Amino acid sequence: MTCDDSCLEADDDDCRLTTRRLVLRDARLADAPAVARLANDLEIAQMTSRIPHPYGMDDASAFLGRTEEELIVAITARGDETFLGLCSLAATATPGTAELGYWIGRPYWGQGFATEAAQAMVDYGFAALELAAIEIRCRVINTASRRVIQKCGFGYVGTGMSTSLAAGRVASETYRMDRRTWQSLKSWCTPR
Ligand SMILES: CC(C)(COP(=O)(O)OP(=O)(O)OC[C@H]1O[C@@H](n2cnc3c(N)ncnc32)[C@H](O)[C@@H]1OP(=O)(O)O)[C@@H](O)C(=O)NCCC(=O)NCCS
Repeated sequence: MTCDDSCLEADDDDCRLTTRRLVLRDARLADAPAVARLANDLEIAQMTSRIPHPYGMDDASAFLGRTEEELIVAITARGDETFLGLCSLAATATPGTAELGYWIGRPYWGQGFATEAAQAMVDYGFAALELAAIEIRCRVINTASRRVIQKCGFGYVGTGMSTSLAAGRVASETYRMDRRTWQSLKSWCTPR
């Protein structure tokens, strides 16, 4: 599958997405050491729902073993395949709707990698998985993730409480993109 703007190329079987600077591929158990090293960071844990702190090899292996339940993708550097972070698409209670999640290791923040990875996952979710909608939640204090969400074109849905393993009950915002909005955004970017 090749998308119109050629920012994304994906193999048909396994998930392997190539963007300008990244390769997103199915996460595997061999990624556990890198996941454990980078995710053992309180600032990452407190901004996510499912990362406890401290975070070790057992936690990483257990999460990477969930590939039957959700799509878990390693974000790696195109070229040397350095492991940069993870993103995921998990089914929600609403059929055809998945929840997007991501984190990037601290040494790699501020270079646009989360935005590039999230946009690729959104394209993959709609184009290859044929989702009807994608949702994402972020803590109200998570300015960086809110910017990523905005730059992907998600729309604000509302604010409520959610649970973070590392931070407890927290206020969070929900954002959503439906298929029609994605199609419109993609055609907007395509030269006529
Ligand atoms: C949120 C996170 C994924 C961002 O990764 P990243 O690769 O640095 O993100 P990007 O570089 O693509 O974009 C970050 C944007 O936030 C902005 N930003 C970062 N820190 C900011 C701050 N403290 N205040 C305001 N804006 C900030 C950046 O300037 C950039 O926006 P811009 O391109 O308009 O300038 C990363 O910080 C992370 O993993 N954090 C911990 C886990 C997490 O929050 N996951 C998301 C859960 S919803």
